[in-house]
Amino acid sequence: MLINPKPVTVEGSYVKDYEKLYKDSIENPEAFWGNIAKELFWFKPWDKVLDWKYPYARWFTGGQTNIVYNALDRWLKTDVSEKTALIWVSQDGTDKKFTYKELNEEVSRFANGLKSLGVKKGDKVTIYLPRIPEQFIAMLGCLKIGAVHSVVYSGFSADALKNRIDDAQAKVVVCSNAYPYGKKTIESFKNVKEALKDNKTVKNVIVVKRIEGATIPVLNDLGGAQRSEHAHGVKNTVSSDQSLQSYLWWHELVSKQDTICLTEIMEATDTAFILYTSGTTGKPKGIIHAHAGYMVGIYTTLKWVFDIKPDDIFWSTADAGWITGHSYILYSPLINGVTTFVYEGTPDYPDIEIWWKLIEKYKVTKFYTAPTAIRALMKFGEEAVKKHDLSSLKILGSVGEPINPEAWLWYYKNVGREQIPIMDTWWQTETGMFMITPVPSVGLKPGSAFKPFFGIDADVVDDKGNKVPINTQGYLIIKKPWPAMFLDVYNNPARYKETYFEKIPNVYFAGDSAKIDEDGYYWITGRNDDVIKVSGHRLGSAELESAFVSNPKVAEAAVIGKPHEVKGESIKAFIILKVGIQPSDELKAELVQTVRKSIGPIATPDEIDFVEKLPKTRSGKIMRRVLKAQELGQPVGDVSTLED
Ligand code: WT7
Repeated sequence: MLINPKPVTVEGSYVKDYEKLYKDSIENPEAFWGNIAKELFWFKPWDKVLDWKYPYARWFTGGQTNIVYNALDRWLKTDVSEKTALIWVSQDGTDKKFTYKELNEEVSRFANGLKSLGVKKGDKVTIYLPRIPEQFIAMLGCLKIGAVHSVVYSGFSADALKNRIDDAQAKVVVCSNAYPYGKKTIESFKNVKEALKDNKTVKNVIVVKRIEGATIPVLNDLGGAQRSEHAHGVKNTVSSDQSLQSYLWWHELVSKQDTICLTEIMEATDTAFILYTSGTTGKPKGIIHAHAGYMVGIYTTLKWVFDIKPDDIFWSTADAGWITGHSYILYSPLINGVTTFVYEGTPDYPDIEIWWKLIEKYKVTKFYTAPTAIRALMKFGEEAVKKHDLSSLKILGSVGEPINPEAWLWYYKNVGREQIPIMDTWWQTETGMFMITPVPSVGLKPGSAFKPFFGIDADVVDDKGNKVPINTQGYLIIKKPWPAMFLDVYNNPARYKETYFEKIPNVYFAGDSAKIDEDGYYWITGRNDDVIKVSGHRLGSAELESAFVSNPKVAEAAVIGKPHEVKGESIKAFIILKVGIQPSDELKAELVQTVRKSIGPIATPDEIDFVEKLPKTRSGKIMRRVLKAQELGQPVGDVSTLED
């Protein structure tokens, strides 16, 4: 099936001839990216577009810029200054709008607040906030002064937060006292308090008061409790000064600050942020992105893939706790000078029509969401969507996991009214920007992410690196660097090399499997490593297994992802209990809590089986692939290396 774009879509499209432009871009990617980079602001132009010393790529070396200069400062002397940069709608339906000028003032105040606490270029700031304007203000505020943010998704538990704060050696944590989540109130500050026990690097905790009221801990009380706990727990080797955090309210900190703050001049390859993501080992990886290359990559991809025009209101339903939120809720829309739209709540609160109501009310023009959300909303039928006037929409998007053709067609028919195209964008935390994606003017096949973006040299190969035949599944690789490519894995360069650049020499190994069809269209078939995608969220088997074994009743655990109708994948665990521990439903419930406590509610296991043995190699490695095949009733394949 090929779905061709409507003439009006093609007319408004930046890219009219994909094949020709792709060919040109790939013949000389450096000229291609260099030309685009000139559209942005530089304190000092670059000497070299690309410095590629395998496996490290450094883009725009010698140049100086700052993402925030391009996202905010650049607009202040133009008409864009008075335009709405951010529309934020709270769960109760009230909204807040910030023009570019206003957003810049808020960001400057916060940035000055950070400075007043002694935060300097290169210092790490962990941001643990829900989807509220302060989340974005904090991110921009960090980059403005050259501090490095590490945003931790608000749904992560205290333990997960602790690991990320510790690994980054954060100096400041920004959080909320609590926040509304549907009918519930999440007491996020408690997690922060727990995460900071014994912490020695964090000096200041800035707390946004998202919820007023008696049920919410009073800051001073908690601050006091924290202090006394520390006073007791202080070890002799640590001076008490080092282990004490001071707590302050966001509004008190920023109210004293000036609305002008000079944006720091950054080297092109200076770190902008770290974002932790799950991989194949138990410990999440800190993915590092730089200012310049990242900026150029995300600017171009959003502009061309979503045909960004000055009047656009772009809504990505992701959260800034993930890369989608960094690249396409916050930075790229602002670098493109358009309005970004954010809804605080979930897709089913206050009811399952909320998204369609908001699109209608705010006249959203570009809408970007995940297959899991489409599949969840599909279940409620077409009526809920049909009631609303969605004619403001011009382009739709999908991201996070493969979109099944059925969900694609439902989205196309009911949200797009068969008039507008869907951009199925394949990319990763590591890639920073869209990599395999259509542009609006091309013919689409439901379920295919089309072909590589301009300048992206992708392929599908076997384990020796040889191209596989048409329609054959193989490993998705990228053969040459791209501008928003990550710089490294924080604190772990060995892992950078091993995971991404040594499985198949000289190329970037994505960890996904794919096929290329007779027309050159890519079909992403899912991960080929031990990463599980639950509702688009990335979790590692090993990370889940270590969560299980943190319960003293568990001897061993093996975790696999199982296909799930709505979530894409669900978590299934096989557990060996310690001698003398009896399996029971209560114990299953307890283990579910163990995992939620260790990672967060997004990691809630769906199924737990108590078993006597697990399939292992002779060297003792659990063969998850065998468990998975068995679970799905597929042939278990070569088990000659199996110990038992
Ligand atoms: C993994 C990366 C990048 C934004 C959010 C996820 C899967 C992502 C698609 C897509 C098929 C997709 C891949 C990838 N994925 N987009 N359009 N079609 N699969 O970022 O958490 O780093 O996850 O998400 O498996 O490797 P992430």
